[in-house]
Amino acid sequence: MSQSGRTDDLPGNSLGFNQEDWSSAYCNVERECTNLTLKIIKGEVPKELNGTFYKNGPGKLERNGQWIHHPFDGDGMITSLNFKNGIVSFNNRFVRTKAWEEEEKAGKFLYRGVFGTKKSGLGISNAFDLRLKNIANTNVIKLGNKLLALWEAAGPHALDPNSLETYGLSNLDGLLASNEAFSAHPRFDPGHFTEPRMVTFGVKTGPKSTIRLMEFKTQGDNAGSLISERKDNFNGFAFLHDFAITPNWAIFLQNAINFNPLPFILGQKGAAQCLKSKPKEKAKFWLIPRDSGDFCKQSPRIFDAPSGFVFHHLNAYEEDKSIIVDSIFYKDFPTIKPNEDFRKVNFNNLPEGILKRCRINLLTAEVYEDKLSNQCCEFAMVNPKLQGLSAQYSWMATAEEETGNGPLQKIKKFDLINRKSHFWSAAPRGFVSEPVMVPKKSSIIEDDGWVLVLIWNGELKQTQLVILNSNNLSHQATLEIPINIPHGLHGSWVNSEEL
Ligand code: CO
Repeated sequence: MSQSGRTDDLPGNSLGFNQEDWSSAYCNVERECTNLTLKIIKGEVPKELNGTFYKNGPGKLERNGQWIHHPFDGDGMITSLNFKNGIVSFNNRFVRTKAWEEEEKAGKFLYRGVFGTKKSGLGISNAFDLRLKNIANTNVIKLGNKLLALWEAAGPHALDPNSLETYGLSNLDGLLASNEAFSAHPRFDPGHFTEPRMVTFGVKTGPKSTIRLMEFKTQGDNAGSLISERKDNFNGFAFLHDFAITPNWAIFLQNAINFNPLPFILGQKGAAQCLKSKPKEKAKFWLIPRDSGDFCKQSPRIFDAPSGFVFHHLNAYEEDKSIIVDSIFYKDFPTIKPNEDFRKVNFNNLPEGILKRCRINLLTAEVYEDKLSNQCCEFAMVNPKLQGLSAQYSWMATAEEETGNGPLQKIKKFDLINRKSHFWSAAPRGFVSEPVMVPKKSSIIEDDGWVLVLIWNGELKQTQLVILNSNNLSHQATLEIPINIPHGLHGSWVNSEEL
């Protein structure tokens, strides 16, 4: 695989990549591995990089000849890559959810998926079956002594951080009610109030929406215990996948979106396929005061937000009397229609993700919008030590081209002040997933560290771990992964002393 190069000789797509190279990543994970040492194909693994890189994503895509309708409906499969003195060992396990166990036994889909997968058998059997299949496939984080596999519409599954064995659905020591939503996007406050914390939320939605904001201890004897929580009610339906934090605020963007449950109830569509943008209505920022901040106990504040649809935020920070929040905006909610095959999706027909900056003036309530880049991107992060604070650098996955939509093929380091970029490209035949930036412990330089990313090599039909140097994205190492992993979702890094 080259780090650059044109794709003119590859057939099959006006965007310059081969659709089969991309879609061939979508296959069932058939094997679970224990402590396999990874083979280094190229380069060297830094000896000072010690800890574990956890990833989550769909691992079961087909049963008895039936394919899921959308990759987001695939059962969660956890990967752990343990780094120790230049050697990386590999584990992977499916999360033993109730539905996974039942469907493994039955050899077919018994539940509907939120993104349109139907259960096996006659279509009519889907009508009025409103059971939620918690597939635990979106993110994986460590809280206290447990690993949590997260899926936002229901509770987390607890796992052993070393063996990845599933302990079961967790209510976090009685904190969560049965089937209570618990976001897949916690934010790790690096120490805005002396100690690091995990801040997260759950949302209950309908004509009115309630956000439960929770802050957890992440260090010391009581790591994993709740520090504070609050509940706030807002008017309107809310689809909140992610949020952002600053020392004083938790920031949510309520997309201008509608939910018509009828096709879901009738079994024609998955719940998420019933979401539709409301182009004439304004999106809103909902700002909830954090409990240890200057505005604690005050009511939330509401501001207009730019139109479009947002899954993910990059970061937020406070400056004078303003909140700055960087987010990835789509023109509309991207969906796979009921008669479409996700593996054949035409990227030209889907909206691209564009990084924009919003400056919310808390005194005047004015909101200024600024496009940071025209390039299609996803999965963006700053150095975790600067979560909620002003950061100069960001790392993200982007399409190969500078404009227009396309599969994610490049890693980009973007300077948010000078608007300059560095790239590492897996194109023409490789595809990237979410990059995770790991700062060098011994350094105080913001961009000093590494970027870890799992890629799909469409030429070799192989998943690989790529390690880049985070300052200039120069290549550090490529390692062979012994199983093929479908394009995944989110992951996290845990330093060895926190394991
Ligand atoms: Co996400």
